Amino acid sequence: MMRNGVFTFGSLQLKACFDCLFHIMTCPKPKSCRFVVLVSGHGSNLRALHDSMVQGSEMNGSKVNGSVVGVISNRPQSQAMAWAKEQGIETELIDHSLYDSREAFDVELKRAVDAFSPDFVLLAGFMRILTPTFVNAYLGRLINIHPSLLPELPGLHTHKRALEGGFKQHGCTIHFVTPELDHGPTIAQGKVVIKREDSVESLAQRVQNMEHIVYPYVARWLADGLVSFTPDQTVHVKNVTKRLFSEASP
Ligand code: GRF
Repeated sequence: MMRNGVFTFGSLQLKACFDCLFHIMTCPKPKSCRFVVLVSGHGSNLRALHDSMVQGSEMNGSKVNGSVVGVISNRPQSQAMAWAKEQGIETELIDHSLYDSREAFDVELKRAVDAFSPDFVLLAGFMRILTPTFVNAYLGRLINIHPSLLPELPGLHTHKRALEGGFKQHGCTIHFVTPELDHGPTIAQGKVVIKREDSVESLAQRVQNMEHIVYPYVARWLADGLVSFTPDQTVHVKNVTKRLFSEASP
């Protein structure tokens, strides 16, 4: 039950709710951020994100003020989902092969996401193209990690294409999702230098190592309310000047 009171400061009268005042006095920390993570495969980024919230890390510092409240997979055999279950994280499987259309799948996906009441939805190796209706429902709250330095190499097989294209550098991009695939505004990037002796596997491994550093940083900025996404789709991160990480100086 709400209890209200009137405070008088000189000629100024303030009406206050005692329950709210009590809450402010006893809960000085900002609310913990709720993340839902969508996965399809291995789940190394999910682990890095979860670890950053439950224990922090040497690289990323103290714990991120949030938690992974739900993991949703579109593939029954996803290792990421099995791992999440072991951790006691709530999971839901929505097998895309059981749906007639992308639209029908996305309606079900939205129901599952909304049931977790998330602040942000993080795609971490989620191998589905999302419909504009789904994307627009979470615009500014839907984030993806892509294994290239966008706008270079949108799409699949980025490590192979980087090597075949003679690229000197490669990496990962964390960006807001917009209806155009792999084109949303960048929040942060992690860069690796391609070595002459690199294979697809060695390059993929170094890019993933970088992903596990950069995604938790972005989760921290989101949880701390530092990231803004303006209507013209410009990204600002308050108090953060470095949004391009590199192997030598993460
Ligand atoms: C990552 O390389 C990410 O960039 C891409 O899919 C991969 C997922 O890996 N979108 P994991 O499942 O997090 O290990």
